[in-house]
Amino acid sequence: MPYKLLFVCLGNICRSPAAENIMNYLIEEAGFRERIVCDSAGTSSYHIGSPPDSRMSSAALQKLQIKLRGKARQFQKSDFENFDLILAMDQENYENILYLDPTGKYRHKVRLICDFCSRHNLKEVPDPYYGGTQGFNLVIDLLVDACEGLLKHLSSQDSTL
Ligand code: 4NP
Repeated sequence: MPYKLLFVCLGNICRSPAAENIMNYLIEEAGFRERIVCDSAGTSSYHIGSPPDSRMSSAALQKLQIKLRGKARQFQKSDFENFDLILAMDQENYENILYLDPTGKYRHKVRLICDFCSRHNLKEVPDPYYGGTQGFNLVIDLLVDACEGLLKHLSSQDSTL
């Protein structure tokens, strides 16, 4: 059984699809395609069914030459059972996810993605939606750092992969 990662933001059109696609790119490069699978979701229902935001896609294409695939969906309670690790982009996403787990049964599966950064000091991936190109570029830089750290973390725990 592959190890299952779920990336979560608010709308599932900017940060979490970028994280999912960046992680898939790193997984492919590392030859872990059979061992780790990725998905993403939003805590809100605002953009269900939408493709990644074109500004996020442009930033990913320009900075990493990768295309963003995906269709927005909302985070649901069954995701707690279906995924091994759930990565929130910011504190608000983190709290909204844990709100759906009142007994704390799945708390150990939920982390802030910036916990895995090593080059950046930011604790959250800032919401780029109402800002300009710089914000989208920062999202890409932070997520490359975080996803590299996450992959290192997973491959160092040999029971995981
Ligand atoms: P995301 O960005 O959470 O990174 O997908 C946002 C997308 C949409 C909205 C906010 C943030 N919105 O308010 O519609």
